[in-house]
Amino acid sequence: MELPFAESYRIKMVEIIRKSTRDERKKWIKEANFNLFKLKSDQVYIDLLTDSGTGAMSDRQWSEMMLGDESYAGASSYYKLKDAINEITGFEYYLPTHQGRAAENVLFSVLIKEGDVVPGNSHFDTTKGHIEFRKAIAVDCTIDEAFDTSLIHPFKGNVDPEKLEKVLKENNSKVPFIIITVTCNSSGGQPVSIENLRKVRQIADKYGKMIIFDAARFAENAYFIKLREKGYNDKSIREIAREMFSYADVMTMSSKKDAIVNMGGFIAMREKDLFCKASVFNIMFEGYITYGGMSGRDMNAVAQGLYEGTEFEYLETRIKQVEYLGNRLISFEIPIQQPIGGHAIFVDASRFLPNLPKEQYQAQTLAIELYIEGGVRGVEIGALLADRDPVTRENRYPVLEFLRLAIPRRVYTNNHMDVVAFALKNVFDRRKHISSGFKILKEAPIMRHFTVELERVGINNFQE
Ligand code: F0G
Repeated sequence: MELPFAESYRIKMVEIIRKSTRDERKKWIKEANFNLFKLKSDQVYIDLLTDSGTGAMSDRQWSEMMLGDESYAGASSYYKLKDAINEITGFEYYLPTHQGRAAENVLFSVLIKEGDVVPGNSHFDTTKGHIEFRKAIAVDCTIDEAFDTSLIHPFKGNVDPEKLEKVLKENNSKVPFIIITVTCNSSGGQPVSIENLRKVRQIADKYGKMIIFDAARFAENAYFIKLREKGYNDKSIREIAREMFSYADVMTMSSKKDAIVNMGGFIAMREKDLFCKASVFNIMFEGYITYGGMSGRDMNAVAQGLYEGTEFEYLETRIKQVEYLGNRLISFEIPIQQPIGGHAIFVDASRFLPNLPKEQYQAQTLAIELYIEGGVRGVEIGALLADRDPVTRENRYPVLEFLRLAIPRRVYTNNHMDVVAFALKNVFDRRKHISSGFKILKEAPIMRHFTVELERVGINNFQE
């Protein structure tokens, strides 16, 4: 008999989590102005807000922390991380930053100016924020297939070469670079194929443009290439990652994802000239070149995490857990982005709550319902996150309204996934009675979803 699949690690330390009652949760979410970011973590039973910085470090990573070198300049930890980045990505130069968006801030300070146009595959919100903050425009060139959640396509993160060429033809002089997010978070943790990376490289070369990878989940992307792309099954994750990075000039990294640390990031690149220019901004915004925004011990943990995060057995354990939750939801006929992505389940809120107008924030309403039902915290990836148009200040309604359930790495068991699935099923069973959503009371001018305050539109019998 074939043996069942099990995790590629065992548990050495545990953290107690607390359940709550429905009445407590109703009170807490109201006190939080119906914004799940404002809940205290002990008001949450299973926290799927993000897979960023929420992973469990290994015994080896904790050991590395003890070896951290906290010298201001030239710390051995800087060089340890330099070697790991060089081995895994092939990039020669790097700058540590405190997290991914800091890497964007430093790099874009060198590369983007007012009026620029930055094409890519569904830019992540901080990436878009850093582009728009500089009065430049982010143009989404993701393939159309990504926007139909029921359509099965192995690489829904792919860039549409025709859309990209159109942007380059029309705005050639305004395009500083092309950015490719691997995996593509905003479209559902969906991977980009090697074939597509090669094609984008050809187009970039034709127009003389740099390619930047937003590489937060590059290892999960490599896992999907291994499983789904012809000719890659026999290659190791590291071989695939090296090939992926060979098509890029620069990368920004949020180490809080695939390097499995709680804080950290970096920029890596091939060109010394760009490294020198970016160093100036790194020193101004983050810290001296050899520590950026990081402690020596944290750089050590990232180096170790990069090796562990690119092990096939680890990735298989991780992505199979995401699939486990997704398959449960599919068996309940709950609409989710398919195929199932790398780091999260993206529930299609407009198909889940079709009777609720999008102006009442379908995905946020669903996120609140799920929290009240089971103490499970997900996050809205929809109209609230999409912000207002920077020019017209009108609300932007994205094609897809998602409730994202992001799975932290090496943290929860499949029993927790069952609780999440059954809680969402209970909401699904009473979805016809959810007839009213929310309106905005207070919002920030940019990245409003973190702090937005909401109020119910009418009364919903199931909640009040
Ligand atoms: N790029 C991608 C694709 C991301 O998903 C994130 C963060 C960043 C950049 C920014 O990195 O948080 O280290 O500053 N994503 C988190 C998430 C916040 O929940 O998806 P950061």
